[in-house]
Amino acid sequence: MVDESSNAPPDPIAAIGAPQEQNLAEILSEVEAVGSPGLQVPLLAAGGLVKHFGGLVAIDHASIEVAKGSITGLIGPNGAGKTTLFNLLSNFIRPDKGRVLFDGEPIHQLQPYQIAQQGMIRTFQVARVLSRLSVLENMLLASQHQTGENFWNTWFKQKQIAAEERQQREHAMTILDSIGLVHMAHEYAGALSGGQRKLLEMGRALMSHPQLILLDEPAAGVNPTLINQICDRILTWNREGLTFLIIEHNMDVIMSLCDRVWVLAEGRNLAVGTPTEIQTNAQVLEAYLGQ
Ligand SMILES: Nc1ncnc2c1ncn2[C@@H]1O[C@H](COP(=O)(O)OP(=O)(O)OP(=O)(O)O)[C@@H](O)[C@H]1O
Ligand SMILES: [Mg+2]
Repeated sequence: MVDESSNAPPDPIAAIGAPQEQNLAEILSEVEAVGSPGLQVPLLAAGGLVKHFGGLVAIDHASIEVAKGSITGLIGPNGAGKTTLFNLLSNFIRPDKGRVLFDGEPIHQLQPYQIAQQGMIRTFQVARVLSRLSVLENMLLASQHQTGENFWNTWFKQKQIAAEERQQREHAMTILDSIGLVHMAHEYAGALSGGQRKLLEMGRALMSHPQLILLDEPAAGVNPTLINQICDRILTWNREGLTFLIIEHNMDVIMSLCDRVWVLAEGRNLAVGTPTEIQTNAQVLEAYLGQ
């Protein structure tokens, strides 16, 4: 990413100042080199993303990479385009330009549910739970590739369906236990607090054994005790092999969780680096103070 002909220091924060096309070229060349010894291909890589809403440029040639096994942060002032970037990464909305590669494969032709089946699940800034279903039912809805989804199987494979359902229930109860919601399993999801809904969304994401979870502000509106619980869970799941991309305004959460942080401002990449580097980056501080 560093321009050899300039005097720019070879650090990633300076490098993000390079033209966006160069970032994309580098991301894509890394991805094309899948299998090269010693080269860590990002689990998620996006480059040159552009999204207009009418006259507003919400995303302006933005790039991002998420290394496999990492907890990567995405921060930026209100309205910077973070949620829109999540929507583009998960194909909830289509980019005007740019590419997204998940596990080395372009995913622009896939529907969001197909992307979820490939192992990338996202949660929403305002947790989306089905209030009139129980907490357990909310979890079970996330199960994928069930034999009982096929009409004929409901007639001819009843034993297999019953066994799968038992297995899914056990899996759901284990996850609910790990997020401290097992005692609420048979309550309406509508009875949960905002923080508990966020935990339920995360738990539901785990039901389909994803590789990567995109969390949009997991700590927003959540009390400090529950924030600690959420952070502990994320760290545990990460140690077990899950990769995370997390949007968050709470810098304590970013500092305690993230290996690497991308900063977005006015739809553009502003900086990338470790949480400590980002905290002391003058451009980042200016973007936040200028809000
Ligand atoms: N569907 C939409 N139609 C029109 N404008 C939109 C739409 N979605 C987002 N925007 C605009 O795009 C810009 C980026 O919004 P976005 O929600 O991505 O920001 P954000 O970084 O997630 O902000 P916050 O930290 O407040 O959640 C904002 O100006 C927003 O008003
Ligand atoms: Mg947002």
